Amino acid sequence: MSMDVSTDVHAAWLPPEAFRALGSHRVLVQGDGPQGVTVYEEVAQACAAYGGRVGRAPGDEAGPYDLVFALTGAEPALPEAAAVLAGGGVGALGDEGFLTARRDGVTVVLADAPAGLLYGLFHVVRLGEAAFGGGDAPAEAHRPAMRTRMLDHWDNLDVHPVMGHVERGYSGGSIFWRDGGPRGDLPRVRAYARLLAATGVNAVSVNNVNVHTAETRLLTERLGDVADLADVFRPYGIRLHLSVNFASPVVLGGLPTADPLDGDVRAWWGKAAARVYEAIPDFGGFVVKADSEGQPGPFTYGRSHADGANMLAEALAPFGGEVHWRAFVYNHTQDWRDRSTDRARAAYDHFAPLDGAFHPNVVLQVKHGPMDFQTREPVSPVIAAMPATRLAVELQVTQEYTGQQRHVCYLGPMWSEVLGFRPWGADSEGRTVAALAADPAAGGGLVAVSNVGDDPYWTGHPLAQANLYAFGRLAWAPHSDPAALLDEWIDLTFVPLLSRDPVPLRRALHAMMDGSWHTYERYTAPLGVGFMVRPGHHYGPDVDGYEYTPWGTYHYADRDGIGVDRTRATGTGYTGQYPQPWSAVYESAERCPDELLLFFHHVPYGHVLQSGSTVIQHIYDTHFAGAEEAAGQRSSWQELAGSGLVDAALHARVLERLDEQVRCAQEWRDQVNAYFLRKSGVRDARGRHIP
Ligand code: GCU
Repeated sequence: MSMDVSTDVHAAWLPPEAFRALGSHRVLVQGDGPQGVTVYEEVAQACAAYGGRVGRAPGDEAGPYDLVFALTGAEPALPEAAAVLAGGGVGALGDEGFLTARRDGVTVVLADAPAGLLYGLFHVVRLGEAAFGGGDAPAEAHRPAMRTRMLDHWDNLDVHPVMGHVERGYSGGSIFWRDGGPRGDLPRVRAYARLLAATGVNAVSVNNVNVHTAETRLLTERLGDVADLADVFRPYGIRLHLSVNFASPVVLGGLPTADPLDGDVRAWWGKAAARVYEAIPDFGGFVVKADSEGQPGPFTYGRSHADGANMLAEALAPFGGEVHWRAFVYNHTQDWRDRSTDRARAAYDHFAPLDGAFHPNVVLQVKHGPMDFQTREPVSPVIAAMPATRLAVELQVTQEYTGQQRHVCYLGPMWSEVLGFRPWGADSEGRTVAALAADPAAGGGLVAVSNVGDDPYWTGHPLAQANLYAFGRLAWAPHSDPAALLDEWIDLTFVPLLSRDPVPLRRALHAMMDGSWHTYERYTAPLGVGFMVRPGHHYGPDVDGYEYTPWGTYHYADRDGIGVDRTRATGTGYTGQYPQPWSAVYESAERCPDELLLFFHHVPYGHVLQSGSTVIQHIYDTHFAGAEEAAGQRSSWQELAGSGLVDAALHARVLERLDEQVRCAQEWRDQVNAYFLRKSGVRDARGRHIP
């Protein structure tokens, strides 16, 4: 049996060997629909490789079974599964949940719907032999926290002259598109869908949020290409979305306006949506970047973002579709001399007054921080400000500002901090960012910009696969421990291929990756101030690169101090966008967490941090330490050379990236340290060489 999944690329966290335990058992699969078929095919493939058997009915010669996948709607045919079902106790599992139990030597996976069986299958794969050992185990329910667990691709159909094939992509070209049309490698797309489903992702948007002319046509002339992709994603429980151009009625429909209150415009969108659902009945909906960085939007017509989003929502509502309307709206043509305009304020200023004005099938997609996926930002105040609006939190798996997949930067710990943040402090009563995004009535889910391209390792840097994996798993279970997720990823990706003790490999990967986000933070922009990257491509240090530009990303360093005054007392007033206690905590230079100090305050270089260090000494110390840690990561990896613990080609690829990381980290260290030595005139207390 072949599922026509691409095999000429790295298997990532689904190597055939990860299915060894599953494939050596006798498995009954009772599921229907596209995902039920997928479960059967997956099991059949694993059994063909590892000597097990798969059947569809209890009397089949494949039995007697020791693993059963069954739907709860009908009485499961296997008595052990029927007994688990009769035992009840776990409540409704929903469209995607599943339960596991073990009864009389049979492992039972039950779900209310086929997609649940699919997630149950990958759960069993993760457990390996542990799914089959021991005596009876009671029913355990697994349900995704987030309803929508989505990856947005910033893929262009053609190579964009400035942004390339995948905007902010660091893994080669698009896996979907090439030369203005489909790339045509559907087995590769299927392999991708399979990887995503194994992490729990259930939605994908297949084109860039900056929708250029060719991509605009995906909605009409090129709809067939989109439907082909939807057919590939469907068996893995993933709904397809499109980024659409707000000006489509003008660009495609020849109308004189795209005014959201214009009757013809509304009719045009209604028809466009109907055509999409004719081709793709389970289409997820539209993603929209409007009035942002040059994209068209309702402001052109003097309308609000609620007007714009609701118009699209009305077009999609009859078919059950949703609009993901992005809150990333700010003035990117700001005068750097103007100290009153604060980009951090923009999303809140634009959207908080619109709370309650959006239709129920609008999801406001909010970047996790107020700026733009920096290494360190506070959590966006928009997330706490719109209780009557469905919110999705947007993360960036692609490492635009975190090393561009040339640097090791495991982002699980960052996302975990964001998701666990309590906007109302101790009074939050469990309302974390994750809980707000997951709220069954009001939540919109978790979204991230994908880091995948047509690179043989999917993500350029093979270790960046862990970010994609962790994203999906956190969207399913936001309170998972990122280090445990890293273990899961190691256990699937590397361990099944080993016939020897995996501990040294596990140790090396944890040493390199657990703290890699902090390492990256140490050698780049200090104390939350952000940017300091080369303008345009955003790689490598350039302390003043954005300082006198229109983008609103300043650090205001002078001879006396550094940082952005965002206080209510003397600054832009941004701290006032937070509820208490954060509003007060951030307002105070003494109470503000060190790592965000320069985001909120302009302070003298001699300001003493909570850590006891001065700002200037902290800059020197962290930059020396960060560059050293990067070199340490390289040493950890070098020790694995020739050990047989990782494939030689993968080892070489990672080593090549680490060489670049070490070089770049030193460049960051020297440029940042030299810059601040020259500005402040304060020498390093430890007398180290600063060029
Ligand atoms: C960043 C990124 C852009 C992208 C934008 C967005 O600013 O640099 O390439 O278009 O985010 O999120 O829309």
